Amino acid sequence: MTTVLGLSGSLRKGSFNTALLRAASELLPGDATLDVRTLHGIPLYDGDVEASVGIPAAVTVLKEAFAAADGVLLSTPEYNNGIPGVFKNGIDWLSRPPADSAQLFSGKPVALIGASPGGFGTILAQNAWLPVLRTLGMRPWFGGRLMVARAGSVIDGAGALKDPATRKHLQEFLDGFVEFVRSGR
Ligand SMILES: Cc1cc2nc3c(=O)[nH]c(=O)nc-3n(C[C@H](O)[C@H](O)[C@H](O)COP(=O)(O)O)c2cc1C
Repeated sequence: MTTVLGLSGSLRKGSFNTALLRAASELLPGDATLDVRTLHGIPLYDGDVEASVGIPAAVTVLKEAFAAADGVLLSTPEYNNGIPGVFKNGIDWLSRPPADSAQLFSGKPVALIGASPGGFGTILAQNAWLPVLRTLGMRPWFGGRLMVARAGSVIDGAGALKDPATRKHLQEFLDGFVEFVRSGR
């Protein structure tokens, strides 16, 4: 049994990136499962809050899910050609306190996907994640890329990924990533 945590970087109900993860949960190979999560309830990082109150409950819940997963699939939106603040903020919280960070992130298999209504499908946001993943010591999978451009034409109003070519691409991506996750055990 392989468990992958799918983390969406969007809080939108109609998010293309969350929809992509929901589609991925139906396309995972064999006995792999995708635990789809969002960043709802995660506050803005504030070092004073951390020092006085500690790690917020919503962060602890996500840290536990992260720790329980064999691999992590990040579905990133792109804002102004970079990582949306909401998503970076969530990962920043997960990296606290520093004493827990290595155990949570170090060597953890990770892959990036993303969807946007534009023509480049989050290529710059995905690139912008790479130094962050390196800093955290994660083990990125580079065997495939999935940038869903013109997301409104491949994901319908109900959030279903209807486009057969994109479904096939996503399925192949997941096959490769899950094999990578399994091979690292
Ligand atoms: C502040 C802001 C900046 C954006 N910048 C980009 C961008 O640089 N590239 C892009 O492809 N889309 C950009 N978009 C459009 C997003 O891709 C679009 O809102 C997308 O639906 C967000 O992902 P979601 O559907 O998962 O919420 C931007 C949107 C916002 C709100």
